[in-house]
Amino acid sequence: MSTRLAVLASGRGSNLRALHEFLMRGERSSIAKLALVLSDHADAGALAYARTRDIAAASIDGGTLGGDRLLAQLRSHRIDLVVLAGYMRLVPEVVVHAYRGRIVNVHPALLPAFGGRGMYGSRVHAAVIAAGARVSGATVHFVDERYDHGAVIAQWPVPVLSGDTPQALAERVLRVEHALYPPSILAVAQSRISLDANGRATHMHLPK
Ligand code: GAR
Repeated sequence: MSTRLAVLASGRGSNLRALHEFLMRGERSSIAKLALVLSDHADAGALAYARTRDIAAASIDGGTLGGDRLLAQLRSHRIDLVVLAGYMRLVPEVVVHAYRGRIVNVHPALLPAFGGRGMYGSRVHAAVIAAGARVSGATVHFVDERYDHGAVIAQWPVPVLSGDTPQALAERVLRVEHALYPPSILAVAQSRISLDANGRATHMHLPK
């Protein structure tokens, strides 16, 4: 049976689109299926995208008080894996507990650098440039109770070029996110990558 994914997105949803297009190719749609898209912004591009693709979509109360309702929504859609794609809120604890090891996030920097509360979107890239870093990148990680904190699943570096603006760096990093995130999600959906009892991401190596 295919793994049922929910995507939580606050904004335009380019990572949602990259994931959807990736899952439509070949046999992948029988492995994992986009079953639900939720947003804390009723006018999010991610919701509009989902509706044009016949994916169930709804706006949610993104505050911590909305945790029980969010959990109920995930359960009523029989969601197996929760994918944060540009979701700018902390996932309520009740959801983190119920879905531990089954919530993933993508962040536009090499965590633990340039992560944490308030570090999202173009703010991340502005901070990277202001710090004079020569390399940034993208990180995929399991989600825990803290912002941008759980076990790292995959990282990919991106050079910071002289004269880079936050927007130019964001576009370069976003291309890497689109390449890195969908296969990482598929690997978690197939349990090729999982969160072990010590809170680390374990990559299963199949015998040759
Ligand atoms: C992406 O760059 C994602 O990494 C970032 O928001 C953007 C969403 O773009 N997420 C964070 O900063 C989370 N801390 P999208 O809506 O086009 O997918």
